[in-house]
Amino acid sequence: MNFEHLDTAALAALDAQLTRETSPRWDGFYADRARPCGFFGTAPDESLHGWLEDGRIPRPGATATPAALDLGCGNGRNAVFLAQQGFAVTGVDFSAQAVAWAQERAAAADVPLTLHQISVFDAPVATGRFALVVDSGCFHHIAPHRRAGYVQLVDHALAPGGLFALTCFRPEGGSGLSDEQVYERGSLGGGLGYTEAELRQHWGHALNILELRQMQTPAAGSGLFGEPFLWVMLARKR
Ligand SMILES: C[S@@+](CC[C@H](N)C(=O)[O-])C[C@H]1O[C@@H](n2cnc3c(N)ncnc32)[C@H](O)[C@@H]1O
Repeated sequence: MNFEHLDTAALAALDAQLTRETSPRWDGFYADRARPCGFFGTAPDESLHGWLEDGRIPRPGATATPAALDLGCGNGRNAVFLAQQGFAVTGVDFSAQAVAWAQERAAAADVPLTLHQISVFDAPVATGRFALVVDSGCFHHIAPHRRAGYVQLVDHALAPGGLFALTCFRPEGGSGLSDEQVYERGSLGGGLGYTEAELRQHWGHALNILELRQMQTPAAGSGLFGEPFLWVMLARKR
């Protein structure tokens, strides 16, 4: 599906068609913190933890505080974890409920977080600033006509040689809707699943993909988050 022929007004109309996927829906979702939901805990992604352990994401040194950006940060579970590792973390989420929760989490963990309650597309993201950009569960909620712009946003945010850590739905985790069906129904159906080939196509032209694998199910009590219906990808800015 190609949207390059559409002007701003046409794109705005497509956005409006997908309003059910935007912040009010997420505010309603986050309003009930007791909801049984894997990403409502405090556990960070097993992938982020593992890549820091094996050095593929360099740990901040004693003197350097690299900047990290968490797109669609939710309750801040990955953002707080990265701040605890020594990153200067900026979190962006358009849900006021999510941002309030992330703020509480940061205060409870006694780590600084810079939080913006805004769409990722409108966020004040300085070009080339971030050593690490993280997206756990945001990309699969991005509408098809915004996809290329989102890839560009991540690419622009990364510092030279910076790393991008993505967690997103595999086909079995997503709604099963094609891009065409998204617009027929005016909904992403709870998030789009991607094949490996699709992820390589969308991200591989902008970034060097270092690893793309199924997310692991961590051992009980590990304090880590992982679900087998998700991909994890680590990529480097060219
Ligand atoms: C599946 S949740 C994941 C939250 C968090 N990253 C985590 O893993 O716990 C997706 C998050 O992305 C946010 N989100 C989706 N689209 C967004 C957009 N265009 N701008 C900002 N936030 C967005 C939602 O509000 C929600 O908090």
